[in-house]
Amino acid sequence: MRRSFWNLVLFLFVLILIQKGVAGDIDDNNIEDKTDLAEWDKYKSKYPLPMPMLVMQHGYPVETHTVTTDDGYILTLHRIPYSDKSNKTEVTRPVVFLQHGLLCSSVDWVIMGPAYMLSDAGYDVWLGNARGNVYSSKHKTLKTSSSKYWAFSWHEMGVYDLPAVIDYILENAEEPDLYYVGHSMGTTMFYVLTSIKPQYNTKIRHMVALAPVAYLRNTKSLFAAATRYMPKGMITELLYNRPFFPNSKYVNWPLRTLCKTGAVTQGLCTNILFQIGGFNSNQINQTMLPIIFSYFPAGSSLKSWAHYGQLIRSGKFRQYDFGIVRNLIKYGNTKPPEYNFVHINSSVTLIVGPNDWLASLEDAGILYNSLPNPTEYYLVHHPEFNHFDFLWAIDVKTLVNNKVLEVLNHNFHNLNLVN
Ligand SMILES: *[C@@H]1O[C@H](CO)[C@@H](O)[C@H](O)[C@H]1NC(C)=O
Ligand SMILES: *[C@@H]1O[C@H](CO)[C@@H](O)[C@H](O)[C@H]1NC(C)=O
Ligand SMILES: *[C@@H]1O[C@H](CO)[C@@H](O)[C@H](O)[C@H]1NC(C)=O
Repeated sequence: MRRSFWNLVLFLFVLILIQKGVAGDIDDNNIEDKTDLAEWDKYKSKYPLPMPMLVMQHGYPVETHTVTTDDGYILTLHRIPYSDKSNKTEVTRPVVFLQHGLLCSSVDWVIMGPAYMLSDAGYDVWLGNARGNVYSSKHKTLKTSSSKYWAFSWHEMGVYDLPAVIDYILENAEEPDLYYVGHSMGTTMFYVLTSIKPQYNTKIRHMVALAPVAYLRNTKSLFAAATRYMPKGMITELLYNRPFFPNSKYVNWPLRTLCKTGAVTQGLCTNILFQIGGFNSNQINQTMLPIIFSYFPAGSSLKSWAHYGQLIRSGKFRQYDFGIVRNLIKYGNTKPPEYNFVHINSSVTLIVGPNDWLASLEDAGILYNSLPNPTEYYLVHHPEFNHFDFLWAIDVKTLVNNKVLEVLNHNFHNLNLVN
């Protein structure tokens, strides 16, 4: 009864948000450019702390870098180069690159995530922002008000964003390769990259996939199920080349207010996360909800969601389906080509949540069996652990982050012993 009430509220809320999103209304307030804490005081009530200031507040150094992709998208990378808590005398500082999921941003790794922990352990931590999110919403020529800007899915993020960002990081850090940690769409992008541009396998020392998403045959998420009813074919170009839950005052400010501690509407907030990621994990900290919803959703393209919808319908992990006519022109076939796992020879650890409605156990198993060089399939030791718990669970440190660090350290020391 209570659940269905919040479902109804959620449905109405989404209708309003989608309207806003469809209007192409994204905030161009350049919040990422501000670094002065005192100056920020006057924005405080309306906007949350920008990512770099959040990191500074925690006592870590932070850098902001911009990278331009081959197709003109201007992306923001954040970096925590070192930690005062780690050994300064350490000669080798292995690079770890963290890539967020759909509608997320670099912020999600520093709220409860492993960024500081990896930094303390001596890693050079780089945090990506995929095209279309609040930190990566610029382009050399296209404006976010044009539908051309939004004509991308995670395919383009894998083919253009990742190579640009990985090459930039390796050049800047003067390292031959890096560790890749992805969550959700951050893992999808990785499989796209390493199957389409296999030469990048040599630049990935090891990949840790949190809540891995490639096959979506068994997904239970209502959010994902909704994509079944999305129109397909030619019309989609008009429909889907648009922003999807942009981070803006129309979306995040109301959410932040509704999620406040003590607000009767807090049920709505937990419900949003449960609908997408799986129910009742008891791992959500109610006090954190307003903070979480200040940064999430951080925006993406509707086409990224539509592309996932196609995977659910087809059961295959393949490129975007433009409809028969355009597929013939683009791919020389009526059906889009599948991503070829044969090329992915990087070693991969999968970390899977038992109650993840999006990245289900079954699909992670299919993925594990498809990968040529998998290292481990690790099930989180909590029966209710869901898709978002990877980011915000109360016990995320003991349940996931410690494991991530263990995997990286183990790999790093093993490799260095061999050398
Ligand atoms: C720092 O280096 C010293 C000496 O090599 C070592 O004993 C200590 O455990 C290191 N600390 C950390 C946090 O790695
Ligand atoms: C992986 O594939 C790349 C590109 O095809 C190749 O250069 C590299 O040697 C391969 N690595 C291993 C460990 O097989
Ligand atoms: C929930 O978050 C608040 C604010 O960050 C923190 O003080 C509190 O300890 C957290 N509760 C639990 C159970 O982790």
